[in-house]
Amino acid sequence: MTIYLATNNAHKLKEITPLFPGHLILKTINDLGFTGDLPETGKTLEENAKQKAKIIWNKYKVPCFADDTGLEVYALGGEPGVYSARYAGRHCSAEDNVSLLLKKLESKTNRNARFRTVIALFLDGEQYFFEGKINGKISEIRKGIGGFGYDPVFIPEGYETTFAEMEFEEKNKISHRAKAVRALVEFLTFQKIQVLPKSFL
Ligand code: IMP
Repeated sequence: MTIYLATNNAHKLKEITPLFPGHLILKTINDLGFTGDLPETGKTLEENAKQKAKIIWNKYKVPCFADDTGLEVYALGGEPGVYSARYAGRHCSAEDNVSLLLKKLESKTNRNARFRTVIALFLDGEQYFFEGKINGKISEIRKGIGGFGYDPVFIPEGYETTFAEMEFEEKNKISHRAKAVRALVEFLTFQKIQVLPKSFL
């Protein structure tokens, strides 16, 4: 089976590609010639993931999926959550987002946080969702140069290093995105679609 990933984010593609086994062929929306926008205007990760995948399904009617990820910080009531990409403002950089996060946490002693990824899959007109989470905490300062986004300040539970200090393979073994992708791959591999109800699109 060939399945298309609805993203323009090269970091995500780099992390997701090695998680796909040989019997599932992963292609991108570039392979479809899609050059349009994939807006994220939903109020939840689920809505955003669905919104992005649905654009590709509606246009090409091919098996496709999209992920949406949020960093949920306990002391900030779950912020930045679904607004992780534009926490410091619509046109701000990851640097700006991390700076704002560290500033908001300056006076907080509880630095617990988690990453949550939701994948929306469109397959034969059906939609399915998969989730992956990882608990951790936000460091006082940035550490490491790997990864992307909030990686320099996220220390996963059971580790002393941030995601950005880890080897690529290590993050990709334990991360929120890896867990969600593994659930997707398992679903596709064992064809659980055969026992799920038909179309509600
Ligand atoms: P998106 O909406 O799924 O693209 O993700 C929202 C934002 O969360 C991104 O712009 C990144 O800043 C951040 N993000 C997503 N995944 C990761 C990750 O694996 N590590 C660190 N930050 C991430």
